[in-house]
Amino acid sequence: MADKLLLRALGGETLPTPPVWMMRQAGRYLPEYRATRARAGDFLTLCYTPELAAEVTLQPIRRFGFDAAIMFADILLVPDALGQRVWFEPGEGPRLDPIASADAVARLRPADAVHDRLAPIYETLRLTRRELPPATTLIGFAGAPWTVASYMIAGRGTPAQEPAHDFMRADRAAFAALIDRVTGATIHYLNAQIEAGAEVVKLFDSWAGSLTGRDFDDFALDPARRIIAGVKARHPDVPVIAFPRGAGDRYRGFARATGADCVALDQSLDAGWAARELQPDGCVQGNLDPALLVSGGARLIEETRRIRDTFAGGPHVFNLGHGITPDAQIDNVALMIETLRERR
Ligand code: CP3
Repeated sequence: MADKLLLRALGGETLPTPPVWMMRQAGRYLPEYRATRARAGDFLTLCYTPELAAEVTLQPIRRFGFDAAIMFADILLVPDALGQRVWFEPGEGPRLDPIASADAVARLRPADAVHDRLAPIYETLRLTRRELPPATTLIGFAGAPWTVASYMIAGRGTPAQEPAHDFMRADRAAFAALIDRVTGATIHYLNAQIEAGAEVVKLFDSWAGSLTGRDFDDFALDPARRIIAGVKARHPDVPVIAFPRGAGDRYRGFARATGADCVALDQSLDAGWAARELQPDGCVQGNLDPALLVSGGARLIEETRRIRDTFAGGPHVFNLGHGITPDAQIDNVALMIETLRERR
């Protein structure tokens, strides 16, 4: 444990060089990912085949030597386990049979269905853990209830989560029941991931930015608090990273209010502001703009140094503000890591 830089940073240590990993580090910008993905046939088969999922989890570690591996899976496996039909349209993205009524919410499977239905994911974690270098930390994850519910209600990704907001306005009680079901399932799911070998878990609230006021409190903050309490009740020493993407001012106090050990910052946040306002509460992660891994060059070097140096006074995990994109250049990822770790 002492040698795992990610665990040290999440535990509150200020390190001379921050640990680094990337959201979506196993993904389409890597030719070896595309080859394994082609072997699997479709995306869900890749997620549900532990040998292949473990293989793609390890690919970015072999190529770049990141400090952490994030298990290969998807946030939409939870709706799948709850009995909603989920599939991925090649070249487009996720599709689900939309949930649009209190009855449809009531028909979902109970929260503990994730234990049986997501057994392959726990196997992926066991296989990966065996193969990882001793200094590399294994991260598990789930989507936060609001983000997952936004896909469950719309049946697809939506720019501003309109269908989920409409459902919330039309029947707040049914909407809250859906959030509760996903919250319960997520607690079971993250605990099972930890029992299978995850050493850190991350909660992705990719669409937190479209919630404001009381809706943010009820459907982003409170579910995160309950999930983290549910994980800490069984696994008090396992760090949790929360990612309320796009939350802006609502990042302030989020770690304290939810019990998160670290908040992941999107690229819209000013690093100087985050160092002053958020880092005193604990570790922060982020927040390089993923577009810089497409363009590269002097700007990539400058921005990598600026973020590293701005957060150098406290605990920090270097990462992107969001996932790496399929058009990112492999050489730019290597340049980012080399710049981050250069001797100063
Ligand atoms: O980070 C990792 O490397 C681990 C694996 C991971 C994936 N998805 C694999 C994936 C993680 C952590 C996720 C999280 C996820 N999935 C989120 C939250 C984080 C974020 O990016 O905001 C969301 C919203 C999803 C839902 C999802 N999955 C969408 C909207 C899409 C389509 C868009 C896209 O990027 O293609 C996916 C598909 C997906 N999930 C891919 C990967 C590597 C690409 C699918 C492919 O290979 O064809």
